[in-house]
Amino acid sequence: MSAPQQAPQADGQSVLETRNLCVRYGKVEALRATSIRLQAGQIVTVIGPNGAGKSSLLNAIMGLLPSNGTSEGQVLYLGHDVAHHNIEHRLGKGLALVPEKRELFTTMTVEDNLVLGAYRRRKSGWSYRDGLEGIYKIFPRLKERRKQLAGTMSGGERQMVAIGRALMSDPKVLMLDEPSLGLAPRVMAEVFHVISHLRESGVATLLIEQNSRAALQVSDYGYVLEVGDVTLEGKASDLAKNPKVIEAYLGKHA
Ligand SMILES: Nc1ncnc2c1ncn2[C@@H]1O[C@H](COP(=O)(O)OP(=O)(O)O)[C@@H](O)[C@H]1O
Ligand SMILES: [Mg+2]
Repeated sequence: MSAPQQAPQADGQSVLETRNLCVRYGKVEALRATSIRLQAGQIVTVIGPNGAGKSSLLNAIMGLLPSNGTSEGQVLYLGHDVAHHNIEHRLGKGLALVPEKRELFTTMTVEDNLVLGAYRRRKSGWSYRDGLEGIYKIFPRLKERRKQLAGTMSGGERQMVAIGRALMSDPKVLMLDEPSLGLAPRVMAEVFHVISHLRESGVATLLIEQNSRAALQVSDYGYVLEVGDVTLEGKASDLAKNPKVIEAYLGKHA
């Protein structure tokens, strides 16, 4: 465990790094000089209470802040600062975000929702069929339900469609904003199970969660974000044993 905002974790190539990233909404400072790092093949989680700035962090990395939001600082993706590039550019380079509101096309089928996620790849003459097969391997249930309207799926299934759609863009970094929000415990466990297997598909995952226990269980490394500042960071297994984290986030109700 290291002190906040020190040099990031061990060696290894970093796919994504923020340096002193700040987000403001007018006078509201939602994120202060936040530096986090994600290495190839890792699952990294940012845990923290409601309002800590978790969504602001992901939206700033993706270039998706609302019109009243501004960010400062660096967003290094594969070593290049993309902080001034638009969302299409970032998506095209391999960053993907599943926002907290999953925003599926509810009157379209599951499969059509997935295919829409592949628009970046279609340009290069790649067949979306191959992409679909890959997604159906990870989520066999989506294959069974591929002709069903997305709006008629359960909460957990919709989350899988949203993750599947993001994976169709063949990202190198997948960011998930509270994927377990609003899900029943059994479904939540299923979603976390899927997340833990994302490593095998070669994407690096940045996971934002209020369900700290489950998030730390599937992650390699973690950051604790509190009112705009990283207050703790460390290996996920160390954070899970840290008395401060246990008291604030893993208490008997967590
Ligand atoms: N569009 C916005 N306009 C003004 N304030 C916002 C906006 N979005 C978020 N905030 C504020 O920024 C802070 C961080 O919010 P957010 O990033 O959504 O936190 P979290 O995802 O950790 O719950 C909160 O105080 C929130 O009220
Ligand atoms: Mg949020």
